Amino acid sequence: MIAAKKITPMYLQDLLLVKLQSLNDVESELIKALPRLVKHATDNALAEAFSLHLNETKTQAERLSEIFSLLDKKPAKLQVMAIRGMAEDVDWLIRNVSDLAARDAALVAAGCQVEQYEMATYETAISWAELLGFNDVRDLLQQNLVEEQEALEKLRGLGEQGIYESAIGDDTETEFDGE
Ligand SMILES: [Fe+2]
Repeated sequence: MIAAKKITPMYLQDLLLVKLQSLNDVESELIKALPRLVKHATDNALAEAFSLHLNETKTQAERLSEIFSLLDKKPAKLQVMAIRGMAEDVDWLIRNVSDLAARDAALVAAGCQVEQYEMATYETAISWAELLGFNDVRDLLQQNLVEEQEALEKLRGLGEQGIYESAIGDDTETEFDGE
C-alpha cells in the first residue's frame, strides 16, 4: 500500500516564499543566458544594453539573497520551466535566424518578453510582501522591478527606433505571402 503523501497546507506566506525562490531561479538562469544575448547581438547599442542588464541582474540576485537572509530562509532549489523555455527560444532564434538585422530584432523582442515576465512576477511578490508587512523585502523587490522596467523601456526604444525597421526584408527575399 502506498503511504498517503502528507500535504502541508500553504498560505500566502508560503506562496510568497515560492515566488521568491522562483525569482531567484529566474535571475540565476538569466545570468547564464544573457552572455549569449550579448555575444549574438550585432547592433552595438543592443549588445551594450544586454551587457548592462547582465550586471544589473547580478545585483538583483544579490538583493534576492539579502531578502532570504532577512526572512531567515534558504533559497531552495526550484526550477522554473517558463524561463528555461524562454532561454531555449532564444537559442532557437540564434540558430535559425541567419539575417543579422532580423536576428537583432528577434533578440530585442525576446528580451522584452523576459522583462515583462519578470515584471509580472515581481509585481505579485511586491504586493504580497506589502500585504504581509515585510516592508524591507518589498523595498528590495521594488528596486529590482524598477531595473526591469528600465531595461524593458530601453529594449523597446532600441526596437522601435531602428532595429525593427532594419529587419524588414524586400519582397524578393521574404517568404511572407500576405497580400
Ligand atoms: Fe531582467
